[in-house]
Amino acid sequence: MESDIKQYLNQNKDILLNELFDLLRIPSVSADPAFATDVENAAKYIKDQMLKIGLDNVSIEETPGYPIVYGEKIIDPALPTVLVYGHYDVQPADPIELWESDPFEPVIKKTDIHPDGAIYARGASDDKGQMYMHLKAVEYLLKNKRLPINVKFMIEGEEEVGSPSLAWYVARNHDKLKNDVIIISDTGMVANDVPAITTGLRGLAYVEVEVTGPNRDLHSGLYGGAVANPINILTKMIARLTDENNRITIPGFYDKVKELSPEERAAIAQTPFDLEAYKKALGIDDVYGEAGYTTLERQSIRPTLDVNGIWGGYTGEGAKTIIPSKAYAKISMRLVPDQDPDEIPVLFEQYFKQLAPKAVKVKVTNLHGGHPYVTPTDSPGYKAAAQAMHKAFGKEPLPIYSGGSIPIVPLFEKELGSKSILMGFGLDSDAIHSPNEHFGVFNFLKGIETISYFYEAYKQQLKQN
Ligand code: BES
Ligand code: MN
Ligand code: MN
Repeated sequence: MESDIKQYLNQNKDILLNELFDLLRIPSVSADPAFATDVENAAKYIKDQMLKIGLDNVSIEETPGYPIVYGEKIIDPALPTVLVYGHYDVQPADPIELWESDPFEPVIKKTDIHPDGAIYARGASDDKGQMYMHLKAVEYLLKNKRLPINVKFMIEGEEEVGSPSLAWYVARNHDKLKNDVIIISDTGMVANDVPAITTGLRGLAYVEVEVTGPNRDLHSGLYGGAVANPINILTKMIARLTDENNRITIPGFYDKVKELSPEERAAIAQTPFDLEAYKKALGIDDVYGEAGYTTLERQSIRPTLDVNGIWGGYTGEGAKTIIPSKAYAKISMRLVPDQDPDEIPVLFEQYFKQLAPKAVKVKVTNLHGGHPYVTPTDSPGYKAAAQAMHKAFGKEPLPIYSGGSIPIVPLFEKELGSKSILMGFGLDSDAIHSPNEHFGVFNFLKGIETISYFYEAYKQQLKQN
């Protein structure tokens, strides 16, 4: 069978890429209401694709937000069922002027990392390209009458804005979504010759803060020096959120953080990582982070606090002399087991308000969050994924902790009782959420190949257990 799929992919490479290109041309930016029609159109495209590959009960499921596209192939209700999750929405393309090609007009370019070419477009890696691999792998299996177990697809359009409707949908569709394992390709590998399966995701707490000084912008000559400037105050407050060791100063922030054992840390240190190449790729002279931890640890198993944006006052042309009335910042905290995304914003708010002098008022709004996730390497799903990757790459995949978040994954476990296998094919260098996002053609085709092996491997794993 392996030679069959490889031959199939080789022969159909252009068709597969062109279909993906059509999807990438739809600017389905969920964050910006200006793209609402495009987001709906992306859902329709997925629906049409599901019908085309022969799925049943295909439907655009309406939610309070953007729809979820559902489709399934139940070959025998007595057999196990795999649920595929992915997202058809993408991040905004901004800053658009930094793209070397149109973010919504995909092109293939060769790079050092991708000698076979990479697809440049917003969503190429996160997550349209990766989600599409699943449809194409199942298409291949169905065409060849080789789908050995049942499959359900649930593709959403609000992942990049915190999946506000997915919990609503999942809660109302327990029976429909019933499954034995969930498989998701929305993460990455270490390198194209170092396949990996993600066994940890960080959680997230995301807040917006507003600092208010005087009730209007003031003349900075008449009032300057006598009235609190909310931007000055806000920057001082932010500076106090971390100490000289880059540890977060919020009382209680680390209380529930699980420290890794020396063995676990040694395992992380085994992951191939080239610090010089890392710095060079980012154009930085040094890395920066919490004392006592390596770069790989800092970006995966340690919690963080980052200002994502800060604004206020006058930012137009030339000089305007004011004491602004208000200052704002968006602050995210990546969480690790067992930190709680409902608790952390409360601790943040208490502390942040204490940092403010009486001369200003502080408002903290909790935007969204998600729990961290860890999954074992001895489950049938993990083993099947590892086996499929081994077959496709000729190597055993490494289990890796990722620093990113997919808040819906812990929710699936809670609501549906099933584990998610994070078998992603992207690379950190794919520039997801950045200008010039891309996804290797090799990765796209290898992903389809690997996924096509997963179904049989999973069936066998369950038989052995
Ligand atoms: N696919 C990413 C998450 C990801 C990428 C995890 C690479 C691991 C490796 C996902 O689309 C994403 O961007 N998630 C957001 C969280 C969400 C609540 C907006 C994130 O991690 O910032
Ligand atoms: Mn994603
Ligand atoms: Mn994303």
